[in-house]
Amino acid sequence: MTVGILSFRLPLFDNLERNNKKAIHGTCWLLALFCMSFGLYAVFESHNDTGTEGTYYANMYSLHSWIGIGVFSLFLGQFVAGSLLYGFKVGGDGVRKEMMSVHKVRARSERCMDEKREARNNCSSLRSSPSA
Ligand code: HEM
Repeated sequence: MTVGILSFRLPLFDNLERNNKKAIHGTCWLLALFCMSFGLYAVFESHNDTGTEGTYYANMYSLHSWIGIGVFSLFLGQFVAGSLLYGFKVGGDGVRKEMMSVHKVRARSERCMDEKREARNNCSSLRSSPSA
């Protein structure tokens, strides 16, 4: 994700053409999307797998999980919109220009939300740990 965000700014990529920087940017976010989807799939699979004891864990029972799905949905929307507008150049130049500020602000707020969610999770696991 860091390389995805910094792909237009890293001095390492300074000599690359803009389209190549875009390709790096898009590929990084595609990888992030794959990792997120795999993580979500693993979580639902593990909850639904009753194992030998037949224990079932409910899905989507915490605020953490709902915020996670919210972040994932926003991310997916951002990815689809980014690919169409800037990857496949769907729509006019005016729309692309207008949407760029939305693209940048949205991406940063999604990352911020995800970091807050992780921080909250770490705090609650500290609280519930008897030795902490
Ligand atoms: C979920 C997916 C995506 C996220 C989170 C995201 C995030 C960002 C962020 C944070 C910036 C600002 C970078 C900066 O200020 O240096 C940016 C810029 C940009 N993104 Fe994305 N992006 C995503 C998908 C895409 C896709 C698929 C494309 C199309 C290839 C794309 C094209 C661009 C372009 C053209 C810029 C402008 C860079 C510049 O300032 O010149 N983005 N994106």
